[in-house]
Amino acid sequence: MDVNKAVIPAAGFGTRFLPVTKAQPKEMMPVLDKPTIQYVVEEAVDAGIDDILIITGRGKQSIERHFDKSYELEAELAAAGKDDRLDRVQEIADLCDIHYVRQKERDGLGDAVRYARKHVGDEPFALLLGDTIVKSEVSCTAKLIDHAEAHGESTISLEAVPWEKVSAYGVADVGERSEDGSLPIEELVEKPAREDAPSNLAITGRYVLTSEIFDLLEETEPGVGGELQLTDALRKLPAIRGVELDGDRYDIGNIPDWLQANLEMALTHDDGEMNDAVRTLVEEELDG
Ligand code: G1P
Repeated sequence: MDVNKAVIPAAGFGTRFLPVTKAQPKEMMPVLDKPTIQYVVEEAVDAGIDDILIITGRGKQSIERHFDKSYELEAELAAAGKDDRLDRVQEIADLCDIHYVRQKERDGLGDAVRYARKHVGDEPFALLLGDTIVKSEVSCTAKLIDHAEAHGESTISLEAVPWEKVSAYGVADVGERSEDGSLPIEELVEKPAREDAPSNLAITGRYVLTSEIFDLLEETEPGVGGELQLTDALRKLPAIRGVELDGDRYDIGNIPDWLQANLEMALTHDDGEMNDAVRTLVEEELDG
């Protein structure tokens, strides 16, 4: 197995963040000085991927503009001698090859992934949800790729969540842990009621999948919410493995996670002046 491509679905509504997401995609929500989807693209690039397909939809044009070259801005920054800013802007357009395809109807994550079939062909690929940031020492996707390559199986990232939150996720029932720490998955359920959940191990939005998934998606009927659920196709794979997430995950579609991501990124940023300013601000707010 050799994983060279990544797919990033970024076509959903950001209903939990309205009205800010009325005219801008939730994937463009800034976390400090970068939009969410840039962190996701960087995670894939850190995993050695240089070909990314972003699945967009109506109203998502600013994503394309963000990863494009910006001649006018670059010329102005160069003329003003703002070289560090210029470097940061140029780096974005040079990250990797990015392709786009539009999902026509919002029919669920499973439907969005179907749009990747032509681009991916019969290769294995990484799938990263465009509204989720994972902050970790080693790229979460790189770790999944290692396990997927070692076992020759589709592999997904899992994280124990509080039991009262399981109904917001796909949830896995797992077997005995392998020597390398990965977990064979025996069953997957999308958004189970708490009492029906086989465990509190949630699917986190990072996957490495074999191209078998495309045929399975074609055979899958709409599931929870009347949408085509990726989880319902994953459970039909002959073998699938879970790897526990080692890092912090932020679902940017929800306000507390987004605020937490901003604070934690600010407090751990290598700009010491900003760390201090944010720390003082938080302390003052809490004291006041
Ligand atoms: C999707 C997946 C779900 C997964 C979740 C992670 O759900 O369907 O299995 O646990 O992402 O964020 P969504 O958040 O789009 O409802």
